[in-house]
Amino acid sequence: MDSASQKTWVEIDQAALTHNVQQFKNLIGSEVKLLVAVKANAYGHGLVGVSKIALAAGADCLGVDSIDEALVLRQAGVDASILIIGYVLRSRLAEAVENDLRLTVYNQETIEELGRITNLGKSEVNIHLKIETGTSRQGVMPEDTLKFIKFIKKYPGVHIEGISTHFANIEDTTDYSYAQKQLKTFQEVVSNLEKAGINIPLKHTANSAATMLFPETHFAMVRVGISLYGFWPSPETRQTVQEKNGRLKDFSLQTVLTWKTVVAQVKNIKAGTAVGYGCTEKVKRDSQIAVLPIGYWDGYDRKLSRVGEVLIKGQRCKVLGRVFMNMIVVDVTNCKEVAVEDEVVLLGKQGLEEITADSLADSIGTINYEFVTRINPLIKRVVI
Ligand SMILES: Cc1ncc(COP(=O)(O)O)c(C=O)c1O
Repeated sequence: MDSASQKTWVEIDQAALTHNVQQFKNLIGSEVKLLVAVKANAYGHGLVGVSKIALAAGADCLGVDSIDEALVLRQAGVDASILIIGYVLRSRLAEAVENDLRLTVYNQETIEELGRITNLGKSEVNIHLKIETGTSRQGVMPEDTLKFIKFIKKYPGVHIEGISTHFANIEDTTDYSYAQKQLKTFQEVVSNLEKAGINIPLKHTANSAATMLFPETHFAMVRVGISLYGFWPSPETRQTVQEKNGRLKDFSLQTVLTWKTVVAQVKNIKAGTAVGYGCTEKVKRDSQIAVLPIGYWDGYDRKLSRVGEVLIKGQRCKVLGRVFMNMIVVDVTNCKEVAVEDEVVLLGKQGLEEITADSLADSIGTINYEFVTRINPLIKRVVI
């Protein structure tokens, strides 16, 4: 099945993704590992396809949210190191151990169950401790870390391979004091452990923004998501990188994803005719409209009603009325000779025009991360 048999599809630009991976590899150097965050269906880009390209381009390991994502990768023949970042139910930990999946751990209940599983089967599991440094989500409190590690040491099959934390406020600001405070807390935890004779090899803290902005956050591994897909984490990160960072002068990101559909119908309607549910919009002039076979179920947010734009024949065409579950209607009055099954770009470039995830996200009050991760996973991803 190729894109020609799909009414909507997502194209993944392999060369662009490879470029982005290599940009980050150059930035972090050969001593630091690159974990590619492929959770949320590789930020909407397609879990298996992206993982294989990223690994071929030099990524060292993959980060997923759930055991189910990890198992999809294993079933697709991916034997690379996979770290599960999100929660795994105790009833599914045995599957994680059997499939050689690394786990992010921060509670004793999980450790007890891992201890039971590894003892019974005389097997082993690698875990990464998550330290709470100020994000107030998963994580062991800094002052409890040593006690927690002593508890883990009761279970010989449970190996502490990594220790990590996650920044709360590094994208949304150009004031990095909160992130610096978190980094300091993490460094203190690490140094206290070292004083107690505990050296955990794989220390990691950095997401995209931290990796680009602060080399001191790199430690042994960085966990990069959004920017490997060619997006800036935020306008603030882009601003700081551009303003201050000589180190990044040759650094560039390329957009990886283009989301397309086709025209399903073209017709003419008179000035004053209402379009769509609720009759929320009436065309002001005699108009030509095109019906496109995608809607909010596909991930085209309903808030784009009357606001969104798509590209047809290289021209921007506005969404008329409400986004339906499986359709939208756009104004093609200014486009020449639009025909059924003409290609439409929902996200990406066509001719000289471009619809960016940043602009669409901005127009509906969200962020590029949410916009791309919401593209329905059932839509075919085609690597080009
Ligand atoms: C724990 C963790 N590390 C790394 C990342 C990657 O972050 P980014 O996409 O900003 O690079 C995420 C994503 O939210 C995350 O939750």
